[in-house]
Amino acid sequence: MQDLPFSQASENNKHVILEILQRHLRENERVLELAGGTGQHAVHFAQNMPELHWQSSDIPSNVDSLNLRIETSRLPNLPRAITVDVNSFPWRVDKATAIFSANSLHIMSAPSVENFFKGIDKNLERAGRLFVYGPFKYAGEFTTESNAGFDLWLKDRDPQSGVRDFEWINELASQAGLNLLEDNIMPANNQLLVWEKSQ
Ligand SMILES: C[S@@+](CC[C@H](N)C(=O)[O-])C[C@H]1O[C@@H](n2cnc3c(N)ncnc32)[C@H](O)[C@@H]1O
Repeated sequence: MQDLPFSQASENNKHVILEILQRHLRENERVLELAGGTGQHAVHFAQNMPELHWQSSDIPSNVDSLNLRIETSRLPNLPRAITVDVNSFPWRVDKATAIFSANSLHIMSAPSVENFFKGIDKNLERAGRLFVYGPFKYAGEFTTESNAGFDLWLKDRDPQSGVRDFEWINELASQAGLNLLEDNIMPANNQLLVWEKSQ
């Protein structure tokens, strides 16, 4: 069998993220995951919340490797991942009652981050929730030295990437009709931001 894609960070953070998702998500929820990566989050969350439907996605060049793990899991509430590039409109997705994305906004360029929120505006149902996990800056400051180092490492790889300002992200969310409900401090210098779309 082919080796499944693996991220140690996802393995470490999936349990704490699940606890927060379980507080918010109800039965029969239809969740869209953007930038699914290795599929470890998708499989863990679908396994532990069998009453909801988890649709993972990623860009065309990554969706096949994401599907390796999803297909191996054979979970009835976790269909094959679909392709979504946040920059390609319209997103070919069913409207979701919740959207989740981890460690994606610091990888995307700033225009892609803007498109991420434009797509969410179109594809998240009213009163639906958005969950975004990752590192952020506040008032222009990194939360830790290690995040400042991570930002340099990211920009060295791709000058368009980088740890995003919470205030800018929250402004984009607000323009997409989202109201911030929670800013959860997570292990390893990350946050889990939760918004709710206006009714
Ligand atoms: C650091 S990985 C995070 C993967 C996974 N969510 C996790 O937490 O391990 C960043 C992800 O962003 C995805 N990505 C990059 N550009 C994207 C775009 N324009 N639209 C959608 N996803 C994108 C990549 O394919 C990759 O899966």
